[in-house]
Amino acid sequence: MGWNSWNTFGEKISDKLIRQTADLMVDLGLDKAGYNYLVIDDCWSERYRDPKTHKLVPNKKKFPNGIKAVADYVHSKGLKFGIYSCCGVRTCANYPGSFDHEFLDADTFAEWGVDFLKYDFCCRPKHAYGPQLYRTMGHALRLCGREILFSACNWGSDDVWSWIRSAGAHMYRSTGDICDTFESFRKIATSQMDKLHASAPFCYNDMDMLTVGMYGKGNVGAQGCAELDYKTQFALWCMMGSPLMLGADLRNLTKKDPKYRNMMKLITNKELIAIDQDPEARPIFNCTISGEMFPTVCRLLANGDLAVAMFNFSDKEALMNVVYEAMGIPDAAGVDLHVRDVFSGEDCGVIREYFDRQVPAHDCFVFRCTPVRRK
Ligand code: GAL
Repeated sequence: MGWNSWNTFGEKISDKLIRQTADLMVDLGLDKAGYNYLVIDDCWSERYRDPKTHKLVPNKKKFPNGIKAVADYVHSKGLKFGIYSCCGVRTCANYPGSFDHEFLDADTFAEWGVDFLKYDFCCRPKHAYGPQLYRTMGHALRLCGREILFSACNWGSDDVWSWIRSAGAHMYRSTGDICDTFESFRKIATSQMDKLHASAPFCYNDMDMLTVGMYGKGNVGAQGCAELDYKTQFALWCMMGSPLMLGADLRNLTKKDPKYRNMMKLITNKELIAIDQDPEARPIFNCTISGEMFPTVCRLLANGDLAVAMFNFSDKEALMNVVYEAMGIPDAAGVDLHVRDVFSGEDCGVIREYFDRQVPAHDCFVFRCTPVRRK
């Protein structure tokens, strides 16, 4: 869990912005909610390496005090610090990549106090083999003398789930880039429904940085989403156990405007975060009975509970069902569910066989259910 500069700021990053963001992560209580990593994405370096040492050079205008000073500041706030590079010769925004410099770069990052490396997939030489490039950086990070979380980013291509865990990654982008529209995150979530078997402790599917609270502003702003859409996006990421990397401008989240206040409530919702971070990290399974625009999913949680969610992806209100039989609990099993609505906090009591809800367009419900044997 953390924050990443890309979604809002793109190349417009600076020492000042990162320090401000670190302050806000603490002042808003995001750190206490679990958001610990502050990550600078692409565009932080000069266009060329140092000609003598071949090291990456922090951009002098954006980071006049260097990267270590920023990392020190982030650490002084009790947060962890992340940076970005790419396994190709150039990054996606055309800054120097780590190809053939993996060990030097990992050592440099360790010197600077980096705790997290996002590692992209652009500009690979024609002869290079993707898995090998990630393996090399995986070794370099393990040998750099500092614990650095390895966040791979090859956009879910080349059957990444079949090899990325073995390369040492701790999380890996399993989808293309998000932009701030309902369609974008709906497609991302739908594409992951049957891919989550590969998401497990020590290496998780990463569905990309959240656009929650962006309201169309910034680098991937696009048309923006409505408040309700963000609720659904956050619930999807939590149900699917994705890393939660915020992408909004945190300065906006300090505003009294209810559209931002509600975002703060949403991203610090303890019960949703607990589902996201459930230690067993089991994938959801699909128990939909009304078609792909109305997915209903269930996830087994470590304490024996079930997280159950219904999502209305359509543009019309719909009556949606949670049918226990579709979750593998036929009525004859004699098992009822004690149901709690995660958003409203309502205790819905012990319910037999099925329950339903009228779900507005783009809205969702998330329930935490405890199975109880019928007497
Ligand atoms: C993309 C990546 C984005 C962002 C961007 C930077 O490949 O998926 O998340 O890091 O590069 O150029």
